[in-house]
This record gives sequence, C-alpha cells and structure tokens, in this order.
Amino acid sequence: MKAPPLSLLTLTLLLNQLSSASGGKILVFPLDGSHWVNMKVLIEELHAKGHEISVIRASDSWYISEKSPSYTSITLPSTGGFEENFEAFLAPQLQVRLQSKPTSFWSYFWMHVQLQRLVVDQFSQFHKRMSEIIIPIFEDENLMRSLHDAKYDVVLTDPGIGGGAILARRLQVPLIFNVRWTIQGEAHLLIAPSPLSYIPFTATELTDKMTFPQRIKNVLSYILGTYTLSRITEPYYKPLVRKYFGPDVDYSTFFLDADIWLMRNDFIFEFPRPTMPNIVYMGGFQCKPPKPLPEDLEQFVQSSGDHGVIIMTLGTLVGKLPQDVAEEIAAAFAQLPQKVVWRYMGQRPASLGNNTLLVDWLPQNDLLGHPKTRVFICHGGTNGVQEAIYHGVPIVGLPLFFDQPDNISRIRAKGGAVVVDIAVLDRHIFADALMTVLYNSSYRENMQRLSRLHRDQPMKPLDRAVFWIEYVIRHKGARHLQSPSYKMSWFVYNSVDVIAALLTVVVLITLTCISIVRLLWRMIFVGKTNE
Ligand SMILES: *[C@@H]1O[C@H](CO)[C@@H](O)[C@H](O)[C@H]1NC(C)=O
Ligand SMILES: *[C@@H]1O[C@H](CO)[C@@H](O)[C@H](O)[C@H]1NC(C)=O
Ligand SMILES: *[C@@H]1O[C@H](CO)[C@@H](O)[C@H](O)[C@H]1NC(C)=O
Repeated sequence: MKAPPLSLLTLTLLLNQLSSASGGKILVFPLDGSHWVNMKVLIEELHAKGHEISVIRASDSWYISEKSPSYTSITLPSTGGFEENFEAFLAPQLQVRLQSKPTSFWSYFWMHVQLQRLVVDQFSQFHKRMSEIIIPIFEDENLMRSLHDAKYDVVLTDPGIGGGAILARRLQVPLIFNVRWTIQGEAHLLIAPSPLSYIPFTATELTDKMTFPQRIKNVLSYILGTYTLSRITEPYYKPLVRKYFGPDVDYSTFFLDADIWLMRNDFIFEFPRPTMPNIVYMGGFQCKPPKPLPEDLEQFVQSSGDHGVIIMTLGTLVGKLPQDVAEEIAAAFAQLPQKVVWRYMGQRPASLGNNTLLVDWLPQNDLLGHPKTRVFICHGGTNGVQEAIYHGVPIVGLPLFFDQPDNISRIRAKGGAVVVDIAVLDRHIFADALMTVLYNSSYRENMQRLSRLHRDQPMKPLDRAVFWIEYVIRHKGARHLQSPSYKMSWFVYNSVDVIAALLTVVVLITLTCISIVRLLWRMIFVGKTNE
C-alpha cells in the first residue's frame, strides 16, 4: 500500500478548521455509486443550511468528485475498488438470470442457487475491499490526529459499508446513518421488532399478507439470509473491529450503535411495521417539483399528442442490455402509438421504431413530473421508485439485482406496477405489460393516490432529515432515543431466561405441592391401615 499524500490531507483538514463555522461540522463517509447520488442531495441541503461538510472519498472514485462547492474532500490513496469493475459485477448476475429461463420449479430453484453463489462471492470481495479502506486511515497517525482535531459534530455515513461506523467510534463522534441496508442486512430487521408472520424478509418478494406456505418460505429465507449475510461480512469486519477496538467489543452490535437512522423509505412504500424512536423516515427526500425540459426534449414529448410518452431507464449503473433483449424491447416500443424516451447506451437496436428516442442521460425527475408521461419503465432503484410515487406515474418494472425485485413487488402489491421478468421477456410480453399499464386506469389511479398520500405530511422528508441531523448536532447525540434492545442476546430479548425461571418456580411449587399431598396421604391412609 502506498503512503498517503500527507501534506495534501492535512492541508484540506486545516483549511476545514480555518473557515469560520456558523453551523455544525459534518464528516461524511459515503458509499460510492448510485447511493452517492442520494447522499449528495443531503449534503447539498446541509451546505445550504450553513453546515461545513467534509467527504471521505477514494482517489479513484468515479462519482464522488474531489472538488465541489458544497463540501471539501479528504481523498484516500486507497482504491474504492467499486466502480472500476461494476460491469464485471453485474454482467455475470444478468447472465445467470438470462440463461436459466425459469420454466420449472427446479430450474427456478437452480437459478437461485447459482445466483446466490455468485452474489455471495461478489459481495465477499466487495466487503473485503471496503473493510480495508479503514486500515490506511487508522494507520496514518497524522490523518487521525487531524481528524480528531477537526472536532466534528457528527459522522454521517451509509452503513452499506462499515467504515463510517468504525471511524465515528474511534473519533467518539455521534453517528447518523443514511440507510436502508447495512452490512448486516435490512435496517429494520436489525433494531426494530420484526415478527416474520407479517414482515416479509428481504428478496422474498412477499407482502405483509402471507399464506402458510409463504410464511414457511419467509422463515426459511430469514434463516438462510441472515446466515449468508454474516458469512459475507463477518470474516472481514470482525478482525478489524477486534484489532482496533479490542476483543471485548461485541462485533454483532458494533455497527448498530447509531444515534439516528435516517431511513430511505416510508410507509407509502413500505408495509406497516413496528419501528423505533431513533428511526426517522425520509423516503422521497430527493424528490422535487419538475423543472422545464430542454427545448428539443420538450418538443419530442409534445409531439406525442394525446398518447403521451413512456420513459425508460435502468439506473445509473446499467447503461446497456444484452443485444437480443434490447431488440425485443425496441420492437415492443415500435408497436405502440406513444413516444418513448429511453436511456440506453448500448448499440442501437435494429428494430428501433421512429417513435423511440435513445438518450445517454435523461432528466428523470423532470420527465416523471411532465403531464404527458404515462408510464415509467424502471429497475426498482431508490430514486426511480420514489420519484414515480412522488409524481404518481405507474411503473412497468424490469428488476435486475439486489433488492430491486422486492422494491417493485411492493409497488405491485399496492396496485401501481406490472413486473416483467427479464429472463422471459420478448416483444409480446413486454408490449402486453405496457398496454396493461397504459390502458387500465387502475394503475395510474393507484399511483396518484400513493402520490397524494406521500405528499400529505407535516414536513418535507428532506427538511425532516436535516432537522434530525441538526438535532444530533445541538444535543451532541440522541442516545436517549436509542433502545438497549439491540445489545441484548436473543434469549434476554425474548425473555427466554425469565420464562425459564418462572417455569422453574411453577414446576418447583407444583412438585412441592404434590409431595406434601403425597406425604399427607401416606400419613392419613397408610398410617390408618397399619393400625
Ligand atoms: C414512423 O413509422 C411509421 C410506421 O413505420 C410511419 O407510418 C410514419 O410515417 C413514420 N413517421 C415518421 C415521422 O417518419
Ligand atoms: C429499493 O428501495 C429502497 C427504498 O426506496 C431503497 O432504499 C433501496 O436502495 C432500493 N434498492 C435499490 C437496489 O436501489
Ligand atoms: C385493471 O387491473 C386491475 C388490477 O390488475 C384489475 O382488477 C381490473 O379488472 C383491470 N380492469 C380492466 C378493465 O381490465
């Protein structure tokens, strides 16, 4: 590992300290990639409120730019190692899904086994790299000293990687999560009561109303999923925590010790479930009213007449699809009277109709807010789903990875989406799905209802997030909102020990009673016959 460029690091940190502070000082430890898009929205708002923000980034980061008007950066010499091979990361998963058409139960099962193996393997490597980021920081005394001296008020991190929590603990600074996922799984499942009878486990695509077989699936997925997750992260983070914090620190709770959990969802999206006082819902915080479209795009959209437009994008990371899939999608579009704006960076499909516009990038929020937009085709990432809810646009889902199928299945359960399995997709299936959402008004009505519900709240989600960050700064943490439950062993949490103790008492009393009765019996009757 190369030595870090000390002078530069110390200089940025010094500059940080010199600039006069009216608000708080916030250290951000983000996760690169699409999650950064989200974090940046928060950072910009915090900056606008007068807070001073430093962002830790890897020197080879694709998304987190070194210079920004809203933050100063602390660049680590280590490689983030995340984006450089994202194609390599996602392409094999897509390959497995496409190759094994889920025609029978067994082929479906087999596909999932293969997918599972691949994902475990990839995520293990990912977490290995991510956990190693922290080592050069800790080993660099100068950097650590300047981080200490900077006297941050709060560390804001995405717990999809462990670095932020580790650093906050070392600096002894309050910790805030911008979260849905942590390295140990879905946030709610880790700190809030989560009965598996009505809370679907990650990636099961189940809802809150489960039949008996579905509940069996849910419980088995939970057991398998928690085991898999621990195998993916524990081997890398556990030794680190042990090395830097000592063997008596409980690894299993180390990453749950945040003051506030800013949750990137809400109960418009999520099924109702128990929650905790330090969980703050900010789902949709990135959504804004639409701005006018660029002139040429506006012209194209207007040219759709009463038919309206269809928007398609599969997120920041998936620019292209296998050519045969792209051909089928293009052919399906060509059959329709609507106009289509498709963010696609692959080779231009031959079957592309003249109603379809291919673009490298699209103003997603502005297009979704356009009155001519009829359907949104998306993969189920955070921004897409939340913006579709905000603007009330029905979805045709083409989920690809991670929790995307789950995300779309929630909207489907609420009547706002149709899901297409990319493994069986052809022009007829795809066109059918589109027609259903276009011409059956129930999808649009349901999304519009979700949109009205989402907007009807006392405070905008972004304001709520900022309020709670400032709250933590003002009160130097929010420990009083933190329940000790997450630190309890499972048998204390479920009062197994109390039940066992009470049962023992009951059994003892019963046994004593029985022996007394027996004794009396003997004394009265046995004594008598002996007389
Ligand atoms: C687009 O294609 C359709 C059918 O292929 C054709 O009827 C129409 O004239 C074309 N429109 C333009 C503007 O080229
Ligand atoms: C699914 O949606 C949730 C809530 O909006 C979000 O936090 C999560 O990142 C999404 N998943 C993906 C893969 O984008
Ligand atoms: C529209 O879709 C809903 C939900 O799938 C269905 O119950 C309803 O019958 C459909 N309506 C028409 C007219 O097809």
